[in-house]
Amino acid sequence: MAAALGLALGLGALLAPPNPAEASAPGSPVAVSRVEAGRTVVAAASPSLSRPKLTGSIRVGSRLRANVTTTGRKSDFLHYEWLRDGKPINGAAETVNYNVKKADLKHRISVRVTATFVGGVTLVSTSAKTEKIRPRLIDDPTSGQVVVNKRRPLKPKTFVPLALTMPRGIANNGQPVRPSVARAIEKMHKAARADGVGLRMISGYRSYALQRQTFNAYVARDGVRAAETYSARPGYSEHQTGLTVDLGGYEGCDFDFCFASTKTGKWLKKNAYKYGFIMRYPNGSQKITGYIWEPYHFRYVGTKVAKNMKKKKIQTLEQYRGLKAAPNYG
Ligand code: DAL
Ligand code: ZN
Repeated sequence: MAAALGLALGLGALLAPPNPAEASAPGSPVAVSRVEAGRTVVAAASPSLSRPKLTGSIRVGSRLRANVTTTGRKSDFLHYEWLRDGKPINGAAETVNYNVKKADLKHRISVRVTATFVGGVTLVSTSAKTEKIRPRLIDDPTSGQVVVNKRRPLKPKTFVPLALTMPRGIANNGQPVRPSVARAIEKMHKAARADGVGLRMISGYRSYALQRQTFNAYVARDGVRAAETYSARPGYSEHQTGLTVDLGGYEGCDFDFCFASTKTGKWLKKNAYKYGFIMRYPNGSQKITGYIWEPYHFRYVGTKVAKNMKKKKIQTLEQYRGLKAAPNYG
């Protein structure tokens, strides 16, 4: 036992964890074997505890799991202590899983595992810290799954996407979109053309400043009450995510209800989901989305979500994500 302890402590010194007072352990379990009268006898394994590895997602609402391996006979359950920026988290359950909370946002999480072995050896090992904890996907404007509505502004309201690009081969108004969206539009445009349907992009990314200008122009034209039913305040528009486009065809009806009756409008209603787009403000959903019908406004959510919404016959992102309705700014 003394030799085993020496081995563990010796390696612990080599693999010094952040806290030098801790006795760390070998990275992988050790089984000592020897050949005895022609047969291999595996001796009782030395007590060892690997450095915990964290798996799972580093987003608020997700779960992290501490994975360790041990060798030797333990005299107690493993003990888990969850740390935020290296300090114990008040009230965190001493379990193998940790549910990431809002309070963890932008902090780093790690776990300290203690293993106690028969014979009185105790080994402690601390995992590396995670990257900074990120918001839930639906709250994260950098995510393709962000949900923006009158109750859910972009955070920050002045958010600007990291990368924006122009889709190739499709007529457009000069406003770019996120690269993933550009690729999807190119595919959809080709498919529409193959079906003899013309597609144009009539808006894409609008910055906070441009959205303010757009919204103010509609207020000046129609009054604030009417404008609020079809135009978002700056910081509240999906167009500011770079994930949204307004689409048109070659039969007129740009930004109009009558777009739904055009060849292009009908084709989009039937096919957009195959390319990862949803009609974000469907007919009759104003009490949920906050906006009147916009048969030309398409939001990219990816093919997985778009197909799943179709399959489940769910029309709005609010319902799909189980979020509160957003009829107004509250
Ligand atoms: N037309 C939509 C609601 C916007 O302004 O983002
Ligand atoms: Zn739009």
